[in-house]
Amino acid sequence: MSQTTKQMRTSAEWQQKRDQFVSKGVSNGNRSLAVKGEGAVLYDLDGRRFVDFAGAIGTLNVGHSHPKVVEAVKRQTEELIHPGFNVMMYPSYIELAEKLCGLVPGEHDKKAIFLNSGAEAVENAVKIARKYTKRQGVVTFTRGFHGRTNMTMSMTSKVKPYKFGFGPFAPEVYQAPFPYYYQKPAGMSDESYDDFIIQSFHDFFVATVAPETVACVVMEPVQGEGGFIIPSKRFVQHIADFCKKHGIVFVADEIQTGFARTGTYFAIEHFDVVPDLITVSKSLAAGLPLSGVIGKAEMMDAAAPGELGGTYAGSPLGCAAALAVLEIIEHEGLNERSEEIGRIIEERGLEWKKEHAFIGEIRRLGAMAAVEIVKDPETREPDKAKAAAIAAYANDNGLLLLTAGINGNIIRFLTPLVITDEQLKEGLDIIEAGL
Ligand SMILES: Cc1ncc(COP(=O)(O)O)c(C=O)c1O
Repeated sequence: MSQTTKQMRTSAEWQQKRDQFVSKGVSNGNRSLAVKGEGAVLYDLDGRRFVDFAGAIGTLNVGHSHPKVVEAVKRQTEELIHPGFNVMMYPSYIELAEKLCGLVPGEHDKKAIFLNSGAEAVENAVKIARKYTKRQGVVTFTRGFHGRTNMTMSMTSKVKPYKFGFGPFAPEVYQAPFPYYYQKPAGMSDESYDDFIIQSFHDFFVATVAPETVACVVMEPVQGEGGFIIPSKRFVQHIADFCKKHGIVFVADEIQTGFARTGTYFAIEHFDVVPDLITVSKSLAAGLPLSGVIGKAEMMDAAAPGELGGTYAGSPLGCAAALAVLEIIEHEGLNERSEEIGRIIEERGLEWKKEHAFIGEIRRLGAMAAVEIVKDPETREPDKAKAAAIAAYANDNGLLLLTAGINGNIIRFLTPLVITDEQLKEGLDIIEAGL
């Protein structure tokens, strides 16, 4: 505990100071003060223990303060904190680029660049695509989330709280339809619904923007903030084929879905699609601010020296942490564990569904699992208040739990993949009590 933390005695005092000195524009899912993290567990200032089903919004697939990450960062701190890659380069950046180029799908030559935040990675993917295609249009999808900077906010769907009052937005950004099978029109089969959405996607390129003016289509292979919406393989393949046909760069935004969250290194692997570019961040570096764009070498080289980068971009500390993360995923079998965790959550969720009419659907890809809360299973009307009450109960009773979705009615699971079966059960028991 730091000297200042020791001096301040109570959580109540910190909470009061937080309200006095920290902007209210930043929300807090839980008002406790975190002081220690270990694997899938956090402790607060009052010594209370929390099982973590939030993982800093999908940032901690290898858990809090994994010993290998701590060791790698400590070593790096002692050796060299920051020469600035564009002043003097260092091996860990290059080594990480080589490793990620080997991991992302596709047999073509690949290159990478590193940045700080997820939004910055998405911004850079757009810059690269624009430079490469010499076009301006950017297409994203309804319910998509790509960040909070002006460009990525423009690419994001949910108006409140992400966009409301923050315009004007970046021009030449358009949102195309994305499937949501649970909320499809009553009586329609998944297949006809796919036909309908695919047709709407084509109509969009007639009514809204011409494909030959579009630089990139940016898609989350599973929508994260949008509510853990999993598209069909057919839909994703169709979009990728459309991009290829029209010379549009297809970008998979894997910032929330990457690094074993769905049981594979990248969620796009489930769809047998090879994207042109992939954006990564969050669990890449176990909590250190690092992001990246990896993709086709000829696209990544479209920008001239100096056109991409940033002062802290790809810091040695982040790269050292990321190299440790990749080793942990491999050595601890986290892709396989992700599938097991997802199965355990799904089994419990299906039991809840038998008991409670307000549980509309359990869906998942690996451990990227969600429970949709509705007012009535027939109408499927979203119940935001009940989802918020369940999350509030969990947060008051030793479980960090998040909601998601355009209507805020999705309970989402982003637990570290190093969670033990006992901790997982403990967290699920708390939700069950809350239901
Ligand atoms: C899919 C996706 N893209 C981009 C971002 C933005 O990342 P950051 O908050 O690090 O800017 C997020 C963050 O939740 C995300 O889930």
